[in-house]
Amino acid sequence: MPILESNSYEFISRSPEQTRRVGMRLGAELKSGDIICLEGDLGAGKTTLVQGLASGWGSTDPISSPTYVLVNQYRRIDDERFAHLDAYRLQNAMDADALDLEELIANGPLVVEWAPRIIEVLPEENLNIKMTWVEEEHRQMYFKANGDYYQKLLEDFKKSMLGGS
Ligand SMILES: Nc1ncnc2c1ncn2[C@@H]1O[C@H](COP(=O)(O)OP(=O)(O)O)[C@@H](O)[C@H]1O
Ligand SMILES: [Mg+2]
Repeated sequence: MPILESNSYEFISRSPEQTRRVGMRLGAELKSGDIICLEGDLGAGKTTLVQGLASGWGSTDPISSPTYVLVNQYRRIDDERFAHLDAYRLQNAMDADALDLEELIANGPLVVEWAPRIIEVLPEENLNIKMTWVEEEHRQMYFKANGDYYQKLLEDFKKSMLGGS
């Protein structure tokens, strides 16, 4: 009998559009202070997922890849800000220390691409999503909730996924 892990969830996306739709469902659940950690190689689909997350959250700004900018912030009509940090160019947590994470999550959620690079400065409680290239248009997404709050968030997201993606 398989072990049912309530703190994790696995999904295979079959297209970039589907990844964006999944992101939108999760994005709709995100609140100020929430931290989403993304891991996976270049081309795994992290930025594509972030496009869905920000749009589901309610961003009125277009979402670009912040690889040349460390942090992008997207606005919403109520003045909240969704922060998108790409740690690809950060070599270690010392660099990340210069980032004011508290300030980034004060008025919105924070999503971190290449989170393992700065794991030392990220809160232990978070929702981690690992993306893996399977084939041309297939990507595996492995969600893992760290902490009670994120377990509840993941449960709400799973319920929303039952409606289809
Ligand atoms: N199922 C899928 N989910 C996400 N991206 C996909 C998928 N299938 C193909 N792709 C393509 O893979 C690339 C992923 O790029 P990107 O989202 O920038 O990845 P990363 O940020 O992880 O480097 C895009 O060109 C996207 O169109
Ligand atoms: Mg990216």
